Amino acid sequence: MAKITKLDDIVSLCKRRGFIFQSSEIYGGLASCYDYGPLGVELKNNVKKAWWKAVVQMRDDVVGVDCSILMHPLVWKASGHADKFADLIAECKKCNVRTRVDHLKEKVAEQAEEHTEHIAIDAAMAGTGNLGKKVCPNCGAVGQFTEPMPFKLMFETQMGANVDDSMTMQLRPETAQGIFVNFRNVLDTTRVKIPFGIAQIGKSFRNEVTTKAFIFRTREFEQAELEFFCEPGTDEKWYEHWKEQRFNWYLNLGIKKENLRFREHEANELAHYAKGCVDVEYKFPFGSGDWQELEGIANRTDYDLRQHQRGMRTLNKWFENDRKLANIGLADEAEDYQSGPLSYFDEEKKRRYIPYVIEPSAGMDRSTMAFLVDAYDEEEVRGEQRNLLRFHPAIAPIKAAIFPLVKKDGMPEVARKIYDDLKRYFNCFYDEKGAVGRRYRRQDEAGTPFCITVDGQTLQDQTVTIRERDSMEQIRVSTDQLRNHLREKLDM
Ligand code: GAP
Repeated sequence: MAKITKLDDIVSLCKRRGFIFQSSEIYGGLASCYDYGPLGVELKNNVKKAWWKAVVQMRDDVVGVDCSILMHPLVWKASGHADKFADLIAECKKCNVRTRVDHLKEKVAEQAEEHTEHIAIDAAMAGTGNLGKKVCPNCGAVGQFTEPMPFKLMFETQMGANVDDSMTMQLRPETAQGIFVNFRNVLDTTRVKIPFGIAQIGKSFRNEVTTKAFIFRTREFEQAELEFFCEPGTDEKWYEHWKEQRFNWYLNLGIKKENLRFREHEANELAHYAKGCVDVEYKFPFGSGDWQELEGIANRTDYDLRQHQRGMRTLNKWFENDRKLANIGLADEAEDYQSGPLSYFDEEKKRRYIPYVIEPSAGMDRSTMAFLVDAYDEEEVRGEQRNLLRFHPAIAPIKAAIFPLVKKDGMPEVARKIYDDLKRYFNCFYDEKGAVGRRYRRQDEAGTPFCITVDGQTLQDQTVTIRERDSMEQIRVSTDQLRNHLREKLDM
């Protein structure tokens, strides 16, 4: 059984083994920012590859894009983020610390359920009620809060070198909008037909009020998002389809079933664009709430494409109306919006409509953390403690480690040759230092599924031992069969 019971355990494991470091550590660190080390970058890349393989590569109905982080300011006006993407906060009058209203705890209740990422501001305002009994999580004062106020979550930056014509831009708070604004480009340049999806993996930025739990909630993070476009009326069916696909993705990559669940959103938690939303939650062995969101699967209806049609009309208005964009709101919704430039014409049914969208949106940092926590294990072997990471081979940072049993008798030369051959196919590690038992232990801690040892017998019959991480069983395989044997086991 995993012995990780505190957040500190996972933080120190990550640091000790080179998975994750605090950003700018030699300068005292930068709060809520983290760097992935040598093992961490391999792990996270493998998680992203596994997502891309399942969502894009293995399907005939999904294509990928990679969009810029900076986008035209009208994108955020049209998407609703410019006006609505905010957290409701209250400031403690005693210690001046600002806290998200939905994170304030009742004095009587030991722990408030804390599930939501960002809730629609209108709904949140209606639901805040009386803060009189709420406790400041910083200083413990009760009911000493200012009136709730919205706090905008998008980071801003300046574009352009000249002071006069530089422009305030936002860093994207989700990758999804890059997909929506390329919907027409993808339709016009590929042979996709509805139903189909567009996928993207990339960085997003949110000036979170409260960051927490290591890489769980940070201000810079990576998302893997799919926008799946379908005919209105078929949206419920695709919603169910993607719920199942995404839940099984975690299970197929080794997450234990008892640690994974769905949680349907209440109406007052829904984001401003969503008709329905379910979270895939993981039971972290630490923290106040235990069950925490890894991914949201939302029915975004035709909201985004419709809004971007309005955005396009707004720009036209701007050209027509003396370019006073600041003074005009988003253009009125056209009555004929169903036939606008972002609509879709179904050739077979001879029907034009704005597609509905089902969106599975996963956090790559959170998933990486869940895979790490879930894989961690400790066991006693011949009176000694063995720490290991039981990663699924697809996400293991190193797939195979190659050792000469001793550093003499021609063994290092043979082992190096094997290493040079195998590393062309997957990530390998060569190690000839210290007792072989200790080299095995180090690889167990890194989660390497296979260790290959060249010994005296290898020199006679061209066989090597393959030691399997979880069972510690060893078999002999001939060197000319080694590559195929491993590729089969690793499914690569
Ligand atoms: N496009 C929809 C969207 O962005 P979201 O629920 O706000 O929905 C999706 O975010 C996922 O992105 C979350 O389930 C979470 O895994 C990840 N995520 C969101 N905010 C995050 C943060 N501050 N730090 C780390 N991951 C975050």
